[in-house]
Amino acid sequence: MKQDMIVILDLGSSRNTDIARQIRDMGVYSEIHPHDITIEELKKLENVKGIVLNGGENRVVDGAAVDIDPALYGCGYPMMAVDHPTAKCERILKELPDESALRAFVFDVCKAQANWNMKNFIADQVELIRRQVGDRKVLLALSGGVDSSVVAAMLIKAIGKQLVCVHVNHGLMRKNESESVIQVFKDQLHANLIYVDAAERFLGKLEGVADPEEKRKIIGSEFIRVFEEEARKLEGIDFLGQGTIYPDIIESGTKTAKMVKSHHNVGGLPEDLKFELVEPLKQLFKDEVRACGVELGLPEGMVYRQPFPGPGLGVRCLGAITRDRLEAVRESDAILREEFARAGLDKKVWQYFTVVPDFKSVGVKDNARCFDYMVIIRAINTVDAMSASVERVDWDVLGRITDRILSEVGNVNRVCFDMSPKPPATIEFE
Ligand code: XMP
Repeated sequence: MKQDMIVILDLGSSRNTDIARQIRDMGVYSEIHPHDITIEELKKLENVKGIVLNGGENRVVDGAAVDIDPALYGCGYPMMAVDHPTAKCERILKELPDESALRAFVFDVCKAQANWNMKNFIADQVELIRRQVGDRKVLLALSGGVDSSVVAAMLIKAIGKQLVCVHVNHGLMRKNESESVIQVFKDQLHANLIYVDAAERFLGKLEGVADPEEKRKIIGSEFIRVFEEEARKLEGIDFLGQGTIYPDIIESGTKTAKMVKSHHNVGGLPEDLKFELVEPLKQLFKDEVRACGVELGLPEGMVYRQPFPGPGLGVRCLGAITRDRLEAVRESDAILREEFARAGLDKKVWQYFTVVPDFKSVGVKDNARCFDYMVIIRAINTVDAMSASVERVDWDVLGRITDRILSEVGNVNRVCFDMSPKPPATIEFE
């Protein structure tokens, strides 16, 4: 392994990630592990230079205070304890260490080298993947989102054609999205890529379904079904690659912290399709995943793209999806993205998209009354998607986008701009 590591053991702190980030910012790799890690598991993590026992407000679980396996205290690693009553450590602190205390521990006590960078991270992960997979095969659902794309690029680097990627086009992708997945992964990276055009199948299942949650459920379960059918056609696959990243693990709950939301990244496949997981990004934060993608040679447009919901344009074509309105969402979204890029807003605004409601309004075209759809533009900024504010888009830019939508997109006679912050509005409309 190329990089030294400081291990943070989670003894009930909600601030494990703060320490991990601080240590990584010092140039030293750091991983967070549960408090009940065994000595054997710890020894398997090579190059561990020291351990931070990180206690906190969730220290008591089911009425008992959590502690590490006592054998770990005698295993020779330098240890620092934060808000964790024990006398067996080099340093015991009541609160999170300030930078100089952490620096002193990492560099003077643990003697760690500042050798954490993306090149070394990738080299280490490639070695770990090769060790885990050997000459066997890995299956990956490649949506084209940031996380699955970066995992794919990492796996291609590690095991090449032993990776089988399946890209399911559910018909709710943005304009040219599937084409760009094929172009980057098949043509440039020579991936073993299976393309499944399931658009008709999804639109058929969604016909007449207006309830947003029902739509989400259908899209999610149909996706798993299509992927499962493809998996069954393949032989000799032992592993499933996944783009799990560190925030997914935190949100799904740790041994000392409650679940924020369930994660659909994991699971969903039937019992008899049992795969071992390969998750090379599971220790990375989102910005690190992007840096990793750039280092692996993925195009910037793919790595720095705005968030896009799993159910895709399906939740932006409001109510029961129809083909004409879905087309209007897709075309207006493409125009919005083009014009935002031209105005330099694509790198500034956190998320921007269009929606088309399921009602018509009166207008006039070619001197005649028309009855057509409306496109609503949404452009918001946020840090964590929990609350969001509206981007004050320049009037001229909005004017250009409106002109283009009205002249280039069929069945539309009106364009609106959504001024609502979150709360009370959510970012998406459904
Ligand atoms: P809301 O609408 O809840 O959105 O304010 C917050 C963020 O989550 C995204 N979003 C989704 N992402 N599946 C996803 O993968 C979904 O069903 C989904 N719904 C909302 C939304 O785009 C925004 O970034």
